[in-house]
Amino acid sequence: MKTTALRGRIVGFRDDPFLQPPSSCLQYEPDGLVLIRDGLIASVGPFAELAPTLPQGTPIHDYGDAIISAGFVDAHVHFPQFGVIAAPGEQLLEWLERYVFPAEARFADETHAERVAGLFLRELLRNGTTTACVYCSVHPQSVDAFFRESERFNTRMIAGKVLMDRNAPPALRDTARTGHDDSLALIRRWHGRGRQSYAVTPRFAASCTPEQLEAAGDLLQRADGLFVQTHLSENLAEIEWVKQLFPDSASYLDVYDRYGLVGERTVLGHGIHLAEQDFCCCHRKGAALAHCPTSNRFLGSGAFRLFDARDGRRPVHVALGTDVGAGTSLSQLATLGEAYKTAQAVGRGTLGAIQGFWLATLGGARALQLDDRIGRVAPGFEADLVVLDPGATDLLRFRTEQGGDIEDTLFALMTIGDDRAVRATWVAGECVYDRDRAEPFAPVT
Ligand code: GUN
Ligand code: FE
Repeated sequence: MKTTALRGRIVGFRDDPFLQPPSSCLQYEPDGLVLIRDGLIASVGPFAELAPTLPQGTPIHDYGDAIISAGFVDAHVHFPQFGVIAAPGEQLLEWLERYVFPAEARFADETHAERVAGLFLRELLRNGTTTACVYCSVHPQSVDAFFRESERFNTRMIAGKVLMDRNAPPALRDTARTGHDDSLALIRRWHGRGRQSYAVTPRFAASCTPEQLEAAGDLLQRADGLFVQTHLSENLAEIEWVKQLFPDSASYLDVYDRYGLVGERTVLGHGIHLAEQDFCCCHRKGAALAHCPTSNRFLGSGAFRLFDARDGRRPVHVALGTDVGAGTSLSQLATLGEAYKTAQAVGRGTLGAIQGFWLATLGGARALQLDDRIGRVAPGFEADLVVLDPGATDLLRFRTEQGGDIEDTLFALMTIGDDRAVRATWVAGECVYDRDRAEPFAPVT
């Protein structure tokens, strides 16, 4: 039995701060201890109370005034687009054609896929992200490469092969049949193996024929606990195109719904231009929207209406996504900063720090129906943790030394913080990333 302890300022949540007064949702332990046993959190409490009860010889990692939080959840990101980040000058459809498809075509080469998977996963960990919903390329070997890398760090990851049988270059197209069969083989190989889960991944309605969407719906019957991830109502030209491709559907969301693709564990990227009926449908079905603010601003797609989505009369699950390569950072802190600015521009509510950190941790976990395993610093939860240093940069240190409370410090982190503020990342009770080590990354297998 392996036992470890972390000491620091512990931040967590007991409730949904969009539905309850935010300050009543925060759990804060100014000098706390997290005891980890066999990858799970065994106990959490004040250092002074817990320290004397530790088994003799338990190593204590003392992080001083750094903040210990549940690891970040990134609900929408494309690993083959790691090298496409910062491609200028286009909106969604032109950007896909000009930059994304050529980059994704290179993932037919497994060596390339392996190299990028290694870089990508390390970049997630360097940013404190311990769980992500990941789009791979159309090539099954890109999924193998990604899950193999995730297994090396024992991270809880959700990923799938993109399905696209039309409106893409020939080299990137599958067919309804090969897409189905390749996905099924991947499900059998990876879904539920260790901490890996499979997501059936129709890229978006415009890249899938009705036959392919039907086959995607079929796949969901093949195993328990499968996820679905796709894009929804991101860009006005895209929405118009989908209307032409599926003239019988009542809405963009209805395209997916007709094929049984909207339910719990469905993660819909963007959802910018939605009607009230769409929010109601997502609420009723338990589907989640992934809010991708850096991407939405980079591509000029529009502004996600976070506070309308989370309306207490029919709250929709919302998680935070970086959407790299349209997104400009894998940092959930940077993403929160953009989410804050988007909410300000929309004018339907101000995104406070408690709501922000909840979205990036427990809210994300809840949106993915994983809130019984991850997202909390509490006994029985998987020990996926991020340690945030409020003095990481001169600016952060100066700003947080002015004497604010924990909420103020979290707000500074989500506004001017980024990867530099991540001191360490723990996965299933192992420190897999430490900023200050000579070799920062430590795979476990
Ligand atoms: N819609 C379909 N494919 C994509 C993609 O790769 N990125 C984004 N942002 N939107 C999409
Ligand atoms: Fe995307």
